[in-house]
Amino acid sequence: MKVPFGDMKVHYQTYKSQIDQAVHRVLESGHYILGSELEKFEAAFAKSLGSGYVAGCASGTEAIYLALAAAGVTTGDEVIVVAHTAVPTISAISMTGATPVFVDIDPKTYVMDVNLVEAKITEKTKALVPVHLYGQMVDLEPLLKIAAKHKIMLLEDCAQSTLATYKGAIAGTLGDYGAFSFYPSKNLGAFGDGGAVSTNSSENFDKLVKLRNYGQSKRYYHDIIGINSRLDEMQAAILDAQLPFVEQWNERRREIAKRYNEGLEGIVVTPYEAEGRKHVYHLYVIQTDDRDGLQAYLLEKGIQTLIHYPNPAHLQKAYSYLGYKPGSLPVTEKLVNRILSLPMHPGLTDDQIDAVIEEIGNYSREQKSSKSSPKVTANSIS
Ligand SMILES: Cc1ncc(COP(=O)(O)O)c(C=O)c1O
Repeated sequence: MKVPFGDMKVHYQTYKSQIDQAVHRVLESGHYILGSELEKFEAAFAKSLGSGYVAGCASGTEAIYLALAAAGVTTGDEVIVVAHTAVPTISAISMTGATPVFVDIDPKTYVMDVNLVEAKITEKTKALVPVHLYGQMVDLEPLLKIAAKHKIMLLEDCAQSTLATYKGAIAGTLGDYGAFSFYPSKNLGAFGDGGAVSTNSSENFDKLVKLRNYGQSKRYYHDIIGINSRLDEMQAAILDAQLPFVEQWNERRREIAKRYNEGLEGIVVTPYEAEGRKHVYHLYVIQTDDRDGLQAYLLEKGIQTLIHYPNPAHLQKAYSYLGYKPGSLPVTEKLVNRILSLPMHPGLTDDQIDAVIEEIGNYSREQKSSKSSPKVTANSIS
């Protein structure tokens, strides 16, 4: 059975009427940038998060950049973050001129090990950027205390965790800012690029709105130096049409994860969901000793898998100037050779899930039997 990693075409066909309606409404309106569709989506998204304000922008990367810039993070500052993330988290930090300072991850949840943060704080530290990776939130309570104690801003990277929760609070509402990506495959995805920043402060929101639109307070009056990073009317309308489905899609993702967990128990390491944290399974990531072998085997059987992420940020060429050497983040570096993301999207069928489980089981059995049978070597043949 063929199991693609994701399927945007099927997703479009399933929600065609809602999406087509939104697109046509915008096309007919004659207004394509900063209009009523954006305002409507920003209000609806803020409501579903339980956040004071949401400012749409052009991507998740720029959502992170805009939040840091709004908080005044700039050249010479340091920002504490993990290396086990999508590199755009780090690119956005670099865009401000600040230096990323990497901490290792927790070996069970794969997100920031909050116990390592305080030791990295210096006089230059201006921000903490916990990344709620794969759909599970970072242990924010201790991190919020550290941020308050040292008067450092806290920005949640929520690109992979739309409507995930931590002790009942929704991702993007506990820190000073939350940054979201609406890249098509995300739990709430646009049909193109898109992003948003959430905040509970009207002052922060006003600054974000200026920063995303050339620093303008009104047309031709530029209060601050800004950029062009807007969520266009078409994407806002499409996102607004899909927003009512996100909870139900997340529930389906959780059901899929449960089925995988049950089928793969004892065969590979399945994801760990920490107490009090609702994982929304943007990605379903297993760990196994023979990751590359398993991935090749599954591909042969028509099952597409991916690795999120094979090369951690601190060892990327672009960040070699920071001087991190192999071995500096041992948990991250061990994990990246063992992880594999299995197909995960709300449209996945039970038969597809079962096919993935079966093939992983078959591979594991083949490996075990080839290890236990005596090896035929050149010597034993002669
Ligand atoms: C954790 C994380 N942060 C940031 C981003 C950047 O988002 P975008 O691709 O919308 O710029 C992504 C998406 O790739 C991501 O997964």
